[in-house]
Amino acid sequence: MQKLTANGTQIAFERSGSGTPIVLMHGFPLDHSMWDGLLPQLQDADVIAPDLRGFGESAVVDGAYSIEDMADDVIGLLDALKIEKAALVGHSMGGYIALAAARKYAGRIASLGLVATQALADAPERKAGRYATAEQVGAQGSVVVADAMAPKLSANPEHIARLRELILRQPPAGVMGALSAMAERPDSTGILPTLGFPVVIVHGLADLLIPPDRSQEMKTSIPRATLLEIPNAGHMPMWDAPVEVGKALKDGLLS
Ligand code: MLT
Repeated sequence: MQKLTANGTQIAFERSGSGTPIVLMHGFPLDHSMWDGLLPQLQDADVIAPDLRGFGESAVVDGAYSIEDMADDVIGLLDALKIEKAALVGHSMGGYIALAAARKYAGRIASLGLVATQALADAPERKAGRYATAEQVGAQGSVVVADAMAPKLSANPEHIARLRELILRQPPAGVMGALSAMAERPDSTGILPTLGFPVVIVHGLADLLIPPDRSQEMKTSIPRATLLEIPNAGHMPMWDAPVEVGKALKDGLLS
């Protein structure tokens, strides 16, 4: 992987292909490699897939940070690569970061992909649950989230073992940092009507973590949005239906 300092943080990223820049932001508690299955379809784009701070080979940052800080890292990465505008695609937590970037850096965004995500903030009980999980991760490690999440992420049980391994590789401090960043994220519904660029929304109808109606609601508020709903896909539609997801992102964000 390549590494650069972005927003004062060392960020590792994979870069492949050439053409319109597209940044793929992974979900929690994963890393850039979750996007690998889409790369064959995105060869005509300049694909940049970072490990977000605290994950994969990127730096683990001490102390509390926010989803906005994580968006600052991604825009800092574009600055370091001298890319003025890019398509931003976020999966779940990566979607929270994409919406934070849209709030702060709309001029840097050519188009937006929101995959299995939502604009709403956490309800109080969800927020409390995140802090309880962070405490458990502090005591027992990333195995806590690997055991809890790996069976629920994909609609295909054959993916569980690979997801578990992927989560177990993530540093506990990064997992805890992201849990608190997600717990404190603001509601982004207010910015949806202001988004002036094309937005592709993708949601698996068998998603066990974020209900598909969160995407239907976003679609009604965003002026230039398309929504792809995939019947047999779970929270990882890019694993459960890579061809459909790759085509929707390519057609909607890069043409
Ligand atoms: C994710 O997949 O990034 C997380 O499930 C998002 C969340 O916990 O809200």
